[in-house]
Amino acid sequence: MNSDKRVRSVPFFNYPYVFTSQEEAFVKIVRDVGRRGAFIMQKDLQEFESNLAIYTGAKYAVGVGNATDALQVGLMAGGIGPGDEVIFCSHTMVATAAAIHFSGATPIPVEAGPDHLMDPKKLEAAITSRTRAIMPTQLNGRTTNMDSIMGIAKKHGLDVYEDAAQALGSKFKGQCAGTFGKASCISFYPAKVLGCFGDGGAVLTNDEETYQKILVLHDHGRDQSGEVIMWGMNSRLDNMQAAVLDYQLKEYDRVVERRRAVARHYKERLGQLDELVLPPGPDDDPDHFDVYQNYEIEAERRDELQAYLKERGVGTLVQWGGKAVHQFKRLGFNQSLPYTEKLFERMLMIPMNMSLTDDDVDYVCDRIIEFYHPH
Ligand SMILES: Cc1ncc(COP(=O)(O)O)c(C=O)c1O
Repeated sequence: MNSDKRVRSVPFFNYPYVFTSQEEAFVKIVRDVGRRGAFIMQKDLQEFESNLAIYTGAKYAVGVGNATDALQVGLMAGGIGPGDEVIFCSHTMVATAAAIHFSGATPIPVEAGPDHLMDPKKLEAAITSRTRAIMPTQLNGRTTNMDSIMGIAKKHGLDVYEDAAQALGSKFKGQCAGTFGKASCISFYPAKVLGCFGDGGAVLTNDEETYQKILVLHDHGRDQSGEVIMWGMNSRLDNMQAAVLDYQLKEYDRVVERRRAVARHYKERLGQLDELVLPPGPDDDPDHFDVYQNYEIEAERRDELQAYLKERGVGTLVQWGGKAVHQFKRLGFNQSLPYTEKLFERMLMIPMNMSLTDDDVDYVCDRIIEFYHPH
């Protein structure tokens, strides 16, 4: 146990590390792509799309500008639009609901359950005659129980679109997040487990027809001959970002294993504290393989704990600025979701990233333990 009480800086996330951790290799990639002038829709992108599809087990992957666009393009390609309702879990980024909104459909928020993911019972209760699709968020690098979600979808004749922005490589019963439904998104925002040097995202789908529409929709509505055949967006993953991502994808399993080791470490040190509820550990349930995009705890006296840690150099974050999506009333939501609202008074994300050393993790744990048990 580390009993060193000197203040140590453990930032919540270390953005420069995204680049400096492998600076030489990255500079080489940038030079190579730059000298080839290969900026938009070139072979590096094609290779990355192909490797991403292989990695996840999806039939198709298409690089786009970001995961929000990926969701919107996926929904539009799947035929979701005005008059439709799409149910999502309110513990998510506003991007999930925004993608539904901009597809023309109405986003309907439902409660999270104790695992912070969509509560299947609340989902089923929210289905109406206008419901066309379900969009579960595979939050914090954990895949929802997809037996429940897919079972409900099948029973009611609905499509599923996964928001897997945070869940590349996460699995339920051996199947990767993002490959269960009609289409899904992955985000490559720099703080993601697989991050690029700006915005980036991908759509995954197993459906040939949806894939063909995505290809057209994300590139100005043009088909392969360049003919404009429908209204489209400009949302493409830059070739240089794709090259950087493809390089990192080769090391992705090692990165995930490190994050799982940190999660194990947190559980060993903090698991006995009655004042906390920890996320499921990496070895708790063989049905789930979690990649720990975030480590989101529930904490008694959360705000005090956050301030205490801040004073001692430890960065933490309350997800989405402390509000579930339905609490953004100016977007027109009028639902009350008491379980989720209560969660938002208790949840706190503690550091989970690749620059953390074991000593950093011990330092964070020591400070949390001494906050609740000062003597
Ligand atoms: C759950 C979730 N959905 C969607 C997004 C949007 O991703 P992007 O920033 O790539 O558009 C994010 C990004 O943080 C996210 O966490």
